[in-house]
Amino acid sequence: MWKEGRLGPEQRRALAWSLIALAACLAMNAYHYSLEGAKGLYVWNRTWLFRSLILMGFVPGSVALLSFPLEKLKSKRASKICRGAAIALAAVVILLSTTLGAYLIAGPRMGSLEPARLTLISPAEGIKPLAADAAASAAPAGAASAGPAANQAAFLAGGAAGGAAQPAKAASSTNVVSSTNVVSSTNVVSSTKAAADPARPLLRLSFSSDPHWGAETSEIGARTDILAGIAEHRPDAFFMLGDTVETGSSASMWNFALSDLEAIIPKIPLRPLMGNHDALTGGQYLFKKAFFPPSLKSDSGSPYYYSIDAGAATIIVLDLPWGTENFGARQRAWLERTLKKADRTKPIIALSHSFFYASGYDDPSFDKPWYDHYQNIPAVTPLFEQYGVDLVVSGHNHYQEYLEHKGVRYAVIGTMGGILDPEPTYISPASKWRAVGVFGRLDADIYAAEVVLSYRDRNGALLHEERFGY
Ligand SMILES: [Fe+2]
Repeated sequence: MWKEGRLGPEQRRALAWSLIALAACLAMNAYHYSLEGAKGLYVWNRTWLFRSLILMGFVPGSVALLSFPLEKLKSKRASKICRGAAIALAAVVILLSTTLGAYLIAGPRMGSLEPARLTLISPAEGIKPLAADAAASAAPAGAASAGPAANQAAFLAGGAAGGAAQPAKAASSTNVVSSTNVVSSTNVVSSTKAAADPARPLLRLSFSSDPHWGAETSEIGARTDILAGIAEHRPDAFFMLGDTVETGSSASMWNFALSDLEAIIPKIPLRPLMGNHDALTGGQYLFKKAFFPPSLKSDSGSPYYYSIDAGAATIIVLDLPWGTENFGARQRAWLERTLKKADRTKPIIALSHSFFYASGYDDPSFDKPWYDHYQNIPAVTPLFEQYGVDLVVSGHNHYQEYLEHKGVRYAVIGTMGGILDPEPTYISPASKWRAVGVFGRLDADIYAAEVVLSYRDRNGALLHEERFGY
């Protein structure tokens, strides 16, 4: 029985169900949006769908409240139907919320990630140029047991092709995570010989992005060719700028990626960044397990953004999987601090998954602009310009491009196998060169007074070169 100002047991039951549904829905959404990349997914994808997943929590309560004035009617049928509908809707919302929450938590943890023998760069330890020839021929016997850098020298001396089958011989026990090697500052291989020869770079870096292991649309042959080219080129560090896998919560996709990386570039110092696809539906758990185990440390304390002392260059990795959704006050303050104290006599190179200036197209499915990034440009590029960042390398768009804006050079370097993007319908005013419809990589050789950028296709053929002083 309903009386003015007082709730009967039926109304209280309907309200209780509605409140439980609201709590379940809010808890599921709070967990989702605490995950890396989730806010970007909301902004850059089917926003209406993600908005519905928030708003659904309020529907049962609204229907329950609607039943109250209906109690005043002579016939109680309408209010009864309303209360019944509120409880039924609440049950659906509770079921959906708990299922989605369980999927987000348990999904990435269901399959097991097979440990891979890789030479992961620990950001806090920096990058030591391997000076391959010098190391292979001149490293003292003691250095050969010093760690992965020496391993790489030994591996390089033995040839890249045989490396996949060779176990890591001399990793220091303190630097081993499962069976993954971690490049550490203890792995000193003198680079003074390299520095003494002006014709020889002080530091050799390679970049590629967006391999998308696990995507049916990705080109496996291109991915393998590019990795084989990296193994042959033997850079001091190879950066994969994100979207390693198509769906971050799929352990089988990560295992696919790890087994290929282990087979082709086990001794190349590797630092992967997290892309928007890697982050999908709780993928951060597997990303960290694969590429940022607990023994690795960074100056920011985050596995997603940090700086790396590369000797002849300062490398700054930013956490921008989609855009600025993860670029909060903490990351911004860290970036400003890091740029302020960076050594101006060396080039400063910033890396990110999502791009800044870029040509591109309007996404036909989601009506989003995949060019001159409307979030990243205003939020971050003023800092690049203010503190004299020399080069910014990103992925996300699946083609190659070189751009310049206010003294900062921008390179877009997708794709390492991910589906090729269409011909841009928008050309950025900052664009200087681009290659659409090619897979490839970018090499950056740092000399004493000059940086040489080499855009290469999947077979290593030179497509474009840029040189600049610093
Ligand atoms: Fe991608």
